[in-house]
Amino acid sequence: MDQKQIAGLLNEMTLEEKVAQLLQLTAHLHEGAEDKGQITGPKEEMGVTAEMVNASGSVLGLSGAASIIALQKSYMEKSRLGIPLLFMADVIHGFKTIFPIPLALGCSWDLGVAEKSAEIAAKESAVSGIHVTFAPMVDLVRDPRWGRVMETTGEDPYLNSLFARAFVRGYQGSNLAEDKDRLAACVKHFAAYGAAEGGRDYNTVDMSERQLREYYLPAYKAALEEGCEMVMASFNTVDGIPASGNEKLMRGILRDEWNFDGVLISDWASIREMIAHGAAEDDCEAAYRAIRAGVDIEMMTPCYVRHLPQLIESGRVDEELIDEAVLRVLQLKNKLGLFENPLRGADPNRERELLLCREHRKAAYEAAAKSCVLLKNNGVLPLKPESRVALIGPFADHEDILGWWSCVGEKEDAVKLGPALQERFTGKLSVTAGCGIDSMTAEQLEAATAAAREADVLVLALGEASDMSGEGGSRTDITLPEAQLELVRQLKRLGKPMAAVIFNGRPLDLNGLFDESDAVLEAWFPGTEGGAAVADILTGSVNPSGRLTMSFPQSVGQVPVYYNAFNTGRPMDPSKTGERYVSKYIDSPNEPLLPFGYGLSYTTFDYSGLTVSSDEMSAEQPLTVNVTVTNTGARAGVETVQLYIRDAVGEVVRPLRELKAFERIDLQPGECRTVTFTITEEQLRYHHSDLSFASDPGLFQVFVGPNSRDTLEGAFRLI
Ligand code: GLC
Repeated sequence: MDQKQIAGLLNEMTLEEKVAQLLQLTAHLHEGAEDKGQITGPKEEMGVTAEMVNASGSVLGLSGAASIIALQKSYMEKSRLGIPLLFMADVIHGFKTIFPIPLALGCSWDLGVAEKSAEIAAKESAVSGIHVTFAPMVDLVRDPRWGRVMETTGEDPYLNSLFARAFVRGYQGSNLAEDKDRLAACVKHFAAYGAAEGGRDYNTVDMSERQLREYYLPAYKAALEEGCEMVMASFNTVDGIPASGNEKLMRGILRDEWNFDGVLISDWASIREMIAHGAAEDDCEAAYRAIRAGVDIEMMTPCYVRHLPQLIESGRVDEELIDEAVLRVLQLKNKLGLFENPLRGADPNRERELLLCREHRKAAYEAAAKSCVLLKNNGVLPLKPESRVALIGPFADHEDILGWWSCVGEKEDAVKLGPALQERFTGKLSVTAGCGIDSMTAEQLEAATAAAREADVLVLALGEASDMSGEGGSRTDITLPEAQLELVRQLKRLGKPMAAVIFNGRPLDLNGLFDESDAVLEAWFPGTEGGAAVADILTGSVNPSGRLTMSFPQSVGQVPVYYNAFNTGRPMDPSKTGERYVSKYIDSPNEPLLPFGYGLSYTTFDYSGLTVSSDEMSAEQPLTVNVTVTNTGARAGVETVQLYIRDAVGEVVRPLRELKAFERIDLQPGECRTVTFTITEEQLRYHHSDLSFASDPGLFQVFVGPNSRDTLEGAFRLI
């Protein structure tokens, strides 16, 4: 349909029909749905009536071509104006073929891998009838206590922005109306949900607008610049007002400043939750604040349906606001081609061919292989082919490696580490659990100890259950569960070389494991092909290349700890630990255990010869930075060369490091390559105290290296 036809359709709609387009409910609430909805919510509690359900404009969480075809057809038969349903779901890191969690994908530093994972997720979802995914989640995070750090790509605004763009490209492609294998993307959670106090989910977020704009907003903006069709409001307050009713954030920044005219959806019940926040007296006030803030679709609660008509009749809300919202929803349906073809890409036969097909599994394997991060290795990895290995731990033979947002992925489809290693390892291999995720029996320990005694090398497979992170999965103690630490202690007593693989959804406090192990491989939740990828790394077929995108703290007491911090007026000199009156702890170093950008390889790389093309640069005259990287080891490897800057003096204090560029290079043994980065004046801009976004003349340091800590230095002046 063209814009005129859409406008004409809007004019034909009654007020009730308009408001119904602004309600989204889970599938099982729809009469006639085959109840394949992945997510259910109590109908009664929400006060949702049958007529609301059957009139609502979009459905949350249903998938399956047959189910969606059936529901769409029955809905269209009843729809007076032939306005089709929108089907939306949480396809966060895969649909049926599950990819590594986004925090893992971020550690690949490979934007192509991220885009490919989204493209495949879109393909599997679209053929199953879905139109929109509630992804990418791009919330910047600095607190690993928060369970949803698994869902984002980490602590850096620049890197998160690049990944946000890559995910949007993968989900949406270049022509949503024509390309039936794509989804509309919905960037979330706007805004700054990852800054919840104490890392406690849904908790208060309070920061300066400057901090918000400098660190937390860039990735959302990048997603929208890439053409992302939708935005989801976050649960949290922003400067004292819940995002779902925050006019300054939504109308002021999102709509007016950024010119976003797409659909803004609330999060699950986040409009009604303004009552709990203490920002609305009742559903009616919540509806009033949300529609004025520019929220179009209400997810899971009927504040709009119940109260917008009377708010309009009473003159408190202008019907124009409803028309704007409904028009955006109709335009999205139109962009997806739903008026011409309400079933879009849903196809049961093709669904059977595509879901979990070999090509998709292969892509999931490659993503997992690139997302693992080698955190420590005293030479015990890769495993020597003819050695005797005891694989011990709750994840030795465990299928729970998909992560929290695994959509319709089945754990049974996952390649587990034990069987994968059995297939690949040519030496003698035993596989025992040793303990559960958070429990241990004497028999388990006895069996593990016996297996360990027979082995030359122990490989521990440890970690968190997938529900120990994800939504609602915040932890105050981010160490491994005690039963697993006890297993480590008991096995350590045998004095054998020990490598550990960890499966987890957040940076952990690795006390009790890191020092005790001779090697530590971070596998995150690696997805459907995770066991195969980890096994290939353990046996050396794959050389690990992942680099951390979120710092690992020494302990939870250090949190938040992140690389782009400020120097303070009394920085601690690590060489002078006796100083008291400096910014330090008396019981811990300041530095994280493992910094942003960190990761090892089975080979080694040497950095030399950092040069800056000029001592001065200007807006008209960028400069280049060269560095030579050499593979000084015995096997090929991929190195992620990272460039950071430090603005020595700013109108506001500036971070010790800011990532501004990186390049992944593949080097053969002995090969060296000169990597060249260009620095432009635009990259030096930041938000000043008056929120102006500009660079300042003055001294800049430049750092290049394998991570944010171990770098070669240079300097230049911006004039
Ligand atoms: C959840 C999450 C959000 C998700 C939505 C729909 O509460 O916060 O990320 O997309 O509800 O499931």
